[in-house]
Amino acid sequence: MAAKLSFAFPFPLERSSKPFQRISVLALPQLNPCYGFCFSKRNSGFRGLSVNALKEEVIQSANSETTPHSQTTFPTSSKLVLVIGASGGVGQLVVASLLNRNIKSRLLLRDPGKATTLFGNQDEEKLQVFKGDTRNPADLDPSIFEGVTHVICCTGTTAFPSKRWKGDNTPERVDWEGVRNLISALPSSLKRVVLVSSVGVTKFNELPWSIINLFGVLKYKKKGEDFLCKSGLPFTIIRAGRLTDGPYTSYDLNTFLKATAGQRRAVLIGQGDKLVGEVSRLVVAEACIQALEIEFTEGKIYEINSVEGEGPGTDPEKWQELFKTAPAQ
Ligand SMILES: NC(=O)c1ccc[n+]([C@@H]2O[C@H](COP(=O)([O-])OP(=O)(O)OC[C@H]3O[C@@H](n4cnc5c(N)ncnc54)[C@H](OP(=O)(O)O)[C@@H]3O)[C@@H](O)[C@H]2O)c1
Repeated sequence: MAAKLSFAFPFPLERSSKPFQRISVLALPQLNPCYGFCFSKRNSGFRGLSVNALKEEVIQSANSETTPHSQTTFPTSSKLVLVIGASGGVGQLVVASLLNRNIKSRLLLRDPGKATTLFGNQDEEKLQVFKGDTRNPADLDPSIFEGVTHVICCTGTTAFPSKRWKGDNTPERVDWEGVRNLISALPSSLKRVVLVSSVGVTKFNELPWSIINLFGVLKYKKKGEDFLCKSGLPFTIIRAGRLTDGPYTSYDLNTFLKATAGQRRAVLIGQGDKLVGEVSRLVVAEACIQALEIEFTEGKIYEINSVEGEGPGTDPEKWQELFKTAPAQ
């Protein structure tokens, strides 16, 4: 079995000669994923999970009060959701949840081999993988977006210099240029584009945000947000607090399922960049998926935190209420 490679960056960044070639997940080799935290390395005691193994259980376990929805078998959906950043902490959970809901997903990965490691051998009808780096406009061929109905973008890199900046994968390149390139390439026919951003982006010159922003991460995320807002695409922006729970790996099987969520299952949603706190990656992933369905979240920016108490689970009505009652700016 391969060794875990946390905080390493073992994958070369050279471009594929066929960047927009669709790759069958069934044909992909098993590779080692690598992960890193962006703002903080604290992960509240959750060491990892197999997304591959969690497909059925993750959201149920995350909301172990077990809402009726957590037992639901979802009917096949007509959506095709493109996930960018699917090998990351939030992205993995987004894809796992989409698969669990029988929603077709398409992934744009710099290293498509990660798809098999993370999500197993999936039917191409359910999961398609394209190779691409958002920093390279040439990688964002229109064929990638054919048939796509919704987009969830959860790309990111570390706020401070790290191995994950290798090959100039800095906040400026990923959170600004990459997001700009992606948005520029998206077709206007999309029903929704959800972008994961960060709390504090409007206050990057103020303490303590200015410290996090020393290398520009908040400033560049805000530029990415602004570009999306002005793009004319139907968008929702989810600004996460400091992320907890994960990133996950395929090597710490089932830890997650035993440890998930603790007392902090409740969700706080705000508007106007006033929230300060932390949020579970599970909650961010669920918020992204729920927002796709809730019409009034179009054109809105929300901040999200996890707090103590019982959570909404995957219950659409509870999420609708949370978004609806988010204090206005
Ligand atoms: N960490 C925090 O406390 C915090 C707080 C607020 C907001 N956020 C934001 O929340 C989002 C999710 O965070 P996370 O920690 O779950 O993410 P993550 O684990 O850091 O994953 C980042 C993802 O972005 C992909 N990516 C990076 N550069 C790319 C590029 N040039 N082209 C295409 N894909 C690229 C990575 O792919 P590879 O596998 O190829 O590297 C990976 O899938 C990010 O936007 C993050 O900045 C984080």
